[in-house]
Amino acid sequence: MSRPTALVTGASRGIGRAIAERLAPTHDLVLVARDVGHLHQVADACQARGAAAHVIALDVADGPATDAALTGLHVDVLVNNAGVAAIKPFLETTAEEWHRQVDVNVNALYHVVRAVLPGMLARQRGHVCIIGSIAGRNTFVGGACYAGTKHFVMGFAESLMLEVRDAGVGVSVVMPGSVDTDLFPPGTKRDWMLEPRDVAETVAFAVTQPPHVLTHRLEVRPLSPKRPR
Ligand SMILES: NC(=O)c1ccc[n+]([C@@H]2O[C@H](COP(=O)([O-])OP(=O)(O)OC[C@H]3O[C@@H](n4cnc5c(N)ncnc54)[C@H](OP(=O)(O)O)[C@@H]3O)[C@@H](O)[C@H]2O)c1
Repeated sequence: MSRPTALVTGASRGIGRAIAERLAPTHDLVLVARDVGHLHQVADACQARGAAAHVIALDVADGPATDAALTGLHVDVLVNNAGVAAIKPFLETTAEEWHRQVDVNVNALYHVVRAVLPGMLARQRGHVCIIGSIAGRNTFVGGACYAGTKHFVMGFAESLMLEVRDAGVGVSVVMPGSVDTDLFPPGTKRDWMLEPRDVAETVAFAVTQPPHVLTHRLEVRPLSPKRPR
């Protein structure tokens, strides 16, 4: 039997890279992000784990480019992971920071899912896993835009799940707490945070359930004290 193909956005580093490497023993990969050099490093790591890995350098906030690059690809599992954060008080948030977060965390969902979902519906099978955040359920000072975008993810994911589940397509949302990645600025205390591979493990669980089972929403948080593996 041929291996399923997983497309991971934001696969060049952080959580997306860990997801790609975690899925590589069982899935072929399509790796999407802007940094093509990092993507090829991830592709090499995935190939070493047994996957065929295809790199697509793409800004997922660019609708026409995303449409051109992804429409028609055979994708069994879409992991919509690419995201950006500018955590700061609303009045200190520039228009560029606001629009960037909305473009990547919200509008890119339209571009990417719109390109890939029709193939899943035609085949009557597939899984769309979206990386949300506990910021999609909680609020905090400095999160007016970021938490707003992650609240959007929750509404989008559940609505889409209800829309396509009877067509054999599952939609899930994985909501991490804080994870040690470049999303946080240098100098941030990180020793208590989750590792990207912890989130990858949760994503792997969500996308490998039996065909008649959908685990729609998963929240993953750090547990203290952090112990060596
Ligand atoms: N870290 C946390 O604590 C945490 C907690 C909850 C949820 N999350 C969510 O997890 C996801 C991944 O974040 P991370 O922590 O792994 O952050 P990260 O280390 O900064 O990685 C972000 C990834 O998104 C990609 N990306 C950003 N803008 C893009 C664009 N316009 N087009 C294509 N790719 C783009 C980046 O690749 P390029 O720069 O190469 O394009 C990179 O691969 C995000 O949705 C984030 O909101 C993170």
